[in-house]
Amino acid sequence: MSNPPAADTGLKVTGPQVIQRLDYRAPDWLVPDITLEFALSLDATRVRATLDVERNAEGETGAPLRLNGDGIAVAGLEVDGKALNDWRMDGNDLVIDLSGDKHRVVIETVINPTANTQLSGLYASGGMLCTQCEAEGFRRITFFPDRPDVLSRYRVRMIADKAKFPVLLSNGNPVASGDAHKNTHWAEWHDPWPKPSYLFALVAGDLVATRDTFTTRSGRKVDLAIWVRPGDETRTDHAMRSLIASMKWDEDVYGREYDLDLFNIVAVADFNAGAMENKGLNIFNTRYILADPETANDGDYDAVEGVVAHEYFHNWSGNRVTCRDWFQLSLKEGFTVLRDQQFSADRGSAPVKRIEDVRILRAAQFPEDSGPLAHPIRPDSYQEISNFYTATVYNKGAEVIRMMTVLAGAERFRKGTDLYFDRHDGQAATCEDFVKAIEDGAGLDLTQFRRWYQQAGTPHVAVTLTHAGETATLTLRQTVPATPGQPDKQPMVIPLRTALFDRATGANRGEHLLVLTGEEQTFTFDGFAELPVLSINRGFSAPVAIDNPSSDADLVFLAANDDDPFARYEAMQQLVVRHLVAAVGGQLDDAARSAGRAAIGKALAAVLADPALDDLMRGELVILPGETYIAEQLSPVDPGRIRAEREALKAWLGTTLASEWKALHDRTSAVPYGLEAAARGARKLKTQALVYLAPADPAEAVARASAQYAAADNMTDRQGALMVLCGLDGAEREAALADFHQRFADNALVIDKWFSLQAGSLHPRAIEHLKALAKHPDFTLTNPNRVRALYMAFAANTAAFHDPSGEGYRIIADLILALDPINGNVAARFVAPLGRWRKIEPARAALMRAELERIAAHSGLSRDVTEQVGKSLE
Ligand code: ARG
Ligand code: ZN
Repeated sequence: MSNPPAADTGLKVTGPQVIQRLDYRAPDWLVPDITLEFALSLDATRVRATLDVERNAEGETGAPLRLNGDGIAVAGLEVDGKALNDWRMDGNDLVIDLSGDKHRVVIETVINPTANTQLSGLYASGGMLCTQCEAEGFRRITFFPDRPDVLSRYRVRMIADKAKFPVLLSNGNPVASGDAHKNTHWAEWHDPWPKPSYLFALVAGDLVATRDTFTTRSGRKVDLAIWVRPGDETRTDHAMRSLIASMKWDEDVYGREYDLDLFNIVAVADFNAGAMENKGLNIFNTRYILADPETANDGDYDAVEGVVAHEYFHNWSGNRVTCRDWFQLSLKEGFTVLRDQQFSADRGSAPVKRIEDVRILRAAQFPEDSGPLAHPIRPDSYQEISNFYTATVYNKGAEVIRMMTVLAGAERFRKGTDLYFDRHDGQAATCEDFVKAIEDGAGLDLTQFRRWYQQAGTPHVAVTLTHAGETATLTLRQTVPATPGQPDKQPMVIPLRTALFDRATGANRGEHLLVLTGEEQTFTFDGFAELPVLSINRGFSAPVAIDNPSSDADLVFLAANDDDPFARYEAMQQLVVRHLVAAVGGQLDDAARSAGRAAIGKALAAVLADPALDDLMRGELVILPGETYIAEQLSPVDPGRIRAEREALKAWLGTTLASEWKALHDRTSAVPYGLEAAARGARKLKTQALVYLAPADPAEAVARASAQYAAADNMTDRQGALMVLCGLDGAEREAALADFHQRFADNALVIDKWFSLQAGSLHPRAIEHLKALAKHPDFTLTNPNRVRALYMAFAANTAAFHDPSGEGYRIIADLILALDPINGNVAARFVAPLGRWRKIEPARAALMRAELERIAAHSGLSRDVTEQVGKSLE
C-alpha cells in the first residue's frame, strides 16, 4: 500500500488522513449487480467491470459516483453504452458525474499480478493467480465503492491459458465453461448472494482437488473441494475432516446451515494473513490447510482445525451478516473467534482449549492493551485499517462476547444470536446491532456492558478477602488504566465466577457469579468458621488482571485441588509469576527465594504425581508462564533479568525433580503415535520433560533429545527435540539441524520451522544465528510465512531481541525498512515489538526509540508503517 497522493485541491497534505468512526455516512450509490471479465495472465491481466449503479435514497442528493482505486489507472470507461471522457481523479478516487438515478458503468483496467508484492488485490503465487480483497484490496483490481456496506451480486468470467491455468474458480456456483481461441479456456461463475467487494475472490492455476460432500440438515447436498498444488493433496485429510465437522457443528450449536451447493477452499503459499472467508471460495495460507503426522505438529493440527472452522463460520458471522464499516470489524471477527474457540473446545479438551486461548490473550493482547497501539475492540479512528486486524479486535473481541454467554447462559445466548441472524440477515450491521440483538433475544440489560466496546485497556481487579465471626467478606476494586486518547475510564461490567473452599475440609462451598459493576463492591458469605480459600475468575470468565491476595500455600492447595481446571492452572501460574516478579525486582533474599521455589516445586511435584489428571491437562499445568506475561507485571522491564530468573527457576526445578522428569520422559516415550488425547498429552509432556532437564543437566538433555529426534515418527516429537537441542551447544545440535533441513528441503512449511526454531532459541548466540539465517539461500522477504518464521520468532525471543547492545532493535528496524516497499502490511506488524519501549528499562528504551525515529525519518513509508511508528513515538 502506498500513500495517497495529495488530492488535487491545491492544498498541502499536512499529515496522514485519519478516518473517524463517527464520520460514517451511507453510500451515495449502490451497485446491485456487477459483472467482472478477466483476461488473466501473470503480468498483464485485463479487467472489464460492468457496474449497474443506482442512487441510494439514504445518500447525498445529486452526489457524483465516486469509485475507489489503488495503484490502477482507467484504461477505458463507458456509461450507458457510450465512451465517456468526462471523468476525473480525486486522489485515488475515480469521480463520475451522473445525471440520472440508474446507470451502467463499464470500466477497464490492466493490472500486473506478478508485480503485486503487497499480496493485496490480484497477485501471483508460485505460478497461480489468486486474490485477497479484505479489507481494501478490491480497489487494486478495479474502481469500485470498496466499502462493506455496498452489496452486489457478482457474475465473473475468466479466460486464461489452458495449460498454465487449468482450474478457474470464483465465488458461488459455476455457470458455464469451455474452450476458447488458441490455447485458452474460459469459465463463468455466479454468486446469488449479494456481498461486499471484500468477499470477492478468484483463483486460477494448476491445482488438484481433494473432494468430499456434506448433506445439510435440510437435505442440501454440498460438494466440498480443497484445492492445492499437485503433490500436496496427501496432506488435506485433516482440513477436510475439520470442514465437515464445522458444518455439522454450526447446524447443531447455532442452527446455521450452509447456503450454496459448493464450498471451495484453496491453499496458497504466499499469503499475508491466516485465511480468508470469501463467499464459497475460502483462500487459505497453506499452513492452515496442509497437515500430516510427519510434517505438522499437534499445535499445527489444532490450528488447521480452528482456522478451517473460523473461515467456515464466517459464512454466517461475516458473510450473511456483514459489517457496515471497518470500525465494526469485531462484529464478525470477535464473534467468529468465539465460535471457533467453542467448536475446538467441543472437539477436544474444553479446559485445555480455554487455557490455550487465555495464554494467547495474555501473550498477545494484554501487551497491546498496555502499549501505544491500545484501542477498543471497536476502534474510534484509523489511518490504515490493515493495522486493526489485531489481538484486541479478534481475541479480546471474542472474550467480550464470551462474557455475554456467561451473563446469559448458553440457552438465552442462543436466543440472542438467533435474533441477530434473523434480524440482520443480508445486511451490513454494526456492533451495536449485535449487542441490541443479544439484549433483546437473551433478555439482558447491556447498557453499562457496552463500555467494553468503547474503552481500551485491561481492567485490573484488586481483591481482598477477610473473615470475622462466621462471615467471609470479599472486596473487589476495579481500575481501568489510561490508554492513548482515553485518560479517564468508567467502571466496566466484570462477571467473575467465584468459589470459596473450606479451609479445614478443602470442600468447594459452591460457585457464585459475582458481577462487579461499580468501582468497588463488597460481597459477604456466611457459614465460614475460618478464612476460606478463594478461587476467582474461574474459567477466566472476564478478560481482566486479578491482583490476587492468596498466600503461596493457598495457591499450592488450589493448584492441586481446585475443581475448575482453569483455576488450577491459574493458581500454578500465579505462584510462579509472583515468585519471578519478586526475583526480577531483586526483592528476594535467600530465604524467600528458597521458600518460593519450594512452594512451586511442591505444586509441580503434585501435578506430576496426580493420577487423576490426564496428560494433556498435566502438560498445561507444567508450562511456566511466558516471558511477555511476566513482563506485563513489571515496570520498568529488564528483559535480560526475566530470562535469567525464569531459566534459573527452570534449572532448579529440573534438578530438584530430575528423576521425575526422566521417568516422565521414559513413560511418555513409550506411548505410540496417535491423534487421540492420551497420545497427544504424552507428546506434550515428553518435550516438556526435556525443557526442564535442559538447563539442569544439559548432557542428559542432549542425549535424550537426540534419541527423541532419531526415533521420531511425527513432527511433534521431532520439533520438540530439535527445539531443545537448538538452545544447547554441541555437535548433536548441528547434526539435528542439518538433518532436519535436508529431510524437509522441499517442504516450505517445515523449513519455516527450521528458521523459527533457531531464531527463537534459548541459545546465547541466537542473534548471530539470526544474522546468518537472514543470508541463507532459503530466506526471502517476499514470502510472509518465511519472514514471520525468522523475524517474529526473533522479536519474541526476548533476551535476544533485547540484547543490551541494541543490535536486536537495529535488526528489526532494518527489516521494517527493507520489507516496507515490498509488503507494508506485513512490515507494519514488526513495529509493535519496538513500540513497547516505554515499559523497558531506560538504557534499552532509548535504543528502541532511536530505531523508531530512524524509521520515521524515511520518506515514502507505507501508510501501514507510518501509522504504527507514529503512534509508537507519541
Ligand atoms: N477475515 C480474515 C479472517 O480473519 C482475515 C483477513 C485479514 N486481512 C488483513 N488485511 N489483515 O479470517
Ligand atoms: Zn476472521
